Amino acid sequence: MRVLVFGGAGLVGRAMVAEAGRRGWPVAGPDRDETDVTDPAAVAAAVARFRPDLVVNCAALAAVDACEVERERAFRLNGEAVGILASAAARPGARFVHLSTDYVFDGEGTVPYPEDHPTAPRSVYGASKLEGERRALAVPGTLLVRTSWIFGAGGPNFVDTMRVKLASPGGPLPVVADQVGAPTYAPFLARALADLGESGASGIVHYQNRPPVSWYEFALEIARRLGSAAEIRPATTDEVPRPARRPRYSVLAVGRFERLAGRPVEDWREGLARHLGSS
Ligand SMILES: NC(=O)c1ccc[n+]([C@@H]2O[C@H](COP(=O)([O-])OP(=O)(O)OC[C@H]3O[C@@H](n4cnc5c(N)ncnc54)[C@H](OP(=O)(O)O)[C@@H]3O)[C@@H](O)[C@H]2O)c1
Repeated sequence: MRVLVFGGAGLVGRAMVAEAGRRGWPVAGPDRDETDVTDPAAVAAAVARFRPDLVVNCAALAAVDACEVERERAFRLNGEAVGILASAAARPGARFVHLSTDYVFDGEGTVPYPEDHPTAPRSVYGASKLEGERRALAVPGTLLVRTSWIFGAGGPNFVDTMRVKLASPGGPLPVVADQVGAPTYAPFLARALADLGESGASGIVHYQNRPPVSWYEFALEIARRLGSAAEIRPATTDEVPRPARRPRYSVLAVGRFERLAGRPVEDWREGLARHLGSS
């Protein structure tokens, strides 16, 4: 299977390129300088050159707060570009795999969101990702994977931020305890994308690791594994204001993934051990 990964230098992009390589699949992962996904001619040329069976879109403006101030760029990259990529993949008959997010929901749920739960984004990031979903799903055969709270090597993420903060705490570290979600280790996500891509699944699939936790609980586990004695204190969302509104509840129902893949989703604590051990 020939795999073309757009946004190949990002957090998920790198993991996807590595996963395809591990499986012995010919893979290319152009970064933004090689292929700007907002440029239809550049995308078409990349597809024509590589002749992929699978096109995976890992390019995005994933910085949630930046999207609030860069609305136009967010919609161009997270929305319009997705249509460009989906059509370019379809032309030679390649399958298109696109990534989306729990931010397309309102975040006010109390039980895991199934794939068909009504969307109601509360941030520019979420709205731009929803526009991307619409454009991706307009092309038959598209696989759209919603995920959350990704960590791993190759891009800014909560684990690495905590590691830096824990190294020089300067007093109790406030971490939000009233937002619940599920961390997801980028290499586990890449494995899931490769499995789904190979299976020919289409439509929407939710994938994240287990078990659900708050950011505070996640931080405690990171500190424990690092052997840090720094004090972490539970904070409310209001105490730590951010430009973009965050979902209070980001847990996704992963039953469809588990049926398609024939295995349960991985435990993020195993990914955390690997990440901290390897970096
Ligand atoms: N991170 C999370 O927690 C999370 C959670 C749920 C869903 N997702 C989704 O997962 C996907 C991957 O996110 P990520 O965390 O891997 O993000 P990331 O690390 O920021 O990677 C995104 C990549 O896209 C590249 N890019 C930006 N503009 C581009 C352009 N015009 N043309 C080509 N490439 C461009 C970026 O390059 P530069 O660095 O040069 O800008 C970067 O390498 C996104 O769809 C995101 O919405 C992420």
